[in-house]
Amino acid sequence: MAAEAIVNIGVLATMDEGEGLMGLRRDGAVVIDDGRIAWVGASSNAPAADASFDAGGAAVIPGFVDSHTHAVFAGDRAAEFDARMSGARYTAGGIRSTVAATRGASTEELTSRTQHLLDEALRQGTTTAEIKSGYGLDVATERRLLEVAARFTEETTFLGAHVVAPEMADRRGEYVDLVAGPMLRAAAPLARWIDVFCEEGAFDVDETRRILAAGRAAGLGLRLHANQLTMSGAAALGVELGTASIDHCTFLSDTDVDALAASDTVATFVPGAEFSTRQPYPGVERLRDAGATWAIASDCNPGSSYTTSMPFCIALAVREMGMTPGEAIRAATLGGARALRRDDVGRIAVGARADLVLLDAPDPVHLAYRPGVPLVSRVWRDGQAATRWTKRVA
Ligand code: NIG
Ligand code: FE
Repeated sequence: MAAEAIVNIGVLATMDEGEGLMGLRRDGAVVIDDGRIAWVGASSNAPAADASFDAGGAAVIPGFVDSHTHAVFAGDRAAEFDARMSGARYTAGGIRSTVAATRGASTEELTSRTQHLLDEALRQGTTTAEIKSGYGLDVATERRLLEVAARFTEETTFLGAHVVAPEMADRRGEYVDLVAGPMLRAAAPLARWIDVFCEEGAFDVDETRRILAAGRAAGLGLRLHANQLTMSGAAALGVELGTASIDHCTFLSDTDVDALAASDTVATFVPGAEFSTRQPYPGVERLRDAGATWAIASDCNPGSSYTTSMPFCIALAVREMGMTPGEAIRAATLGGARALRRDDVGRIAVGARADLVLLDAPDPVHLAYRPGVPLVSRVWRDGQAATRWTKRVA
């Protein structure tokens, strides 16, 4: 593969070495070779390469790392959203209507819908995406959803513990046995991670502990939906078990914040869910003061956050959660990488994957300053200009 130099970058946000939280370099250049970043420095010193791309003084940032999506599903829940915007409350129960639509969809339909969502995400600068199962809730469908997810990403997550399957509503103990037993055995070869929705209306702390322990024994990494609707013991459990990330974190106690700050667990915020469920937005002040690490993800799903747009989530995080633009952009790139325990994405550094986003803007701050405007003008994924999502080659 020929080396390409991207030169004349007005502001390069490396998230690595450079000024401030975003690791800024002015008048920068990047050389990419064989899908990786080979050189980062001043445009005037850029080494010769086989090809050159002139950024025209625009900003370049790392591709977004969306560490939390539920991108394999069928149907939509526009009517449920409409009712919520007229005052109805969001509950975990809506998940079941997506389960019915998803079980009835063919694998081809699910694949083409997921392709469509990921192409949409890519156009908005996402280059790494995690995808969960969780709308199957029986052994065959959960496995099928993970097969679809694995066609698109290496970051696949088994979420059989999303809610209790409707046909087993009055046998929840049996459902937990199924998830921690046969369903996990069918899912584990296709999944990198296991996740549980630990919440009122979904699974309690004891059930969650048991399912995550089974997932760990099967070789999976741990993640957790925690403290989305209530200030439960989920966040504390996530930190105790050393989950890579606890996601949502809409309601955190001071003890949760301190525990997070003293741990390797990342707090992943999903402001699209607050937007779409009309819940209060969590603030980041306590996490900042305590020194905790946080990420932003889309939570793309048809119930609580039907968006693929990381720029939208960044704008919400800045306006509604008290993040500075630099904190939000870092959380959507390097933060997501940390939540997935990856060091090859989320930053522009020698050896990292050449996942880069050229903005139609002179400064990355425009991502929050100009909300709703399509500012992503070009995306490189593994060193190639990309317009269609494909699974990465290792
Ligand atoms: O992350 N919280 C649980 N799961 C999704 C919502 C799923 C749904 O409502 O369909 C979430 O918000
Ligand atoms: Fe989620």
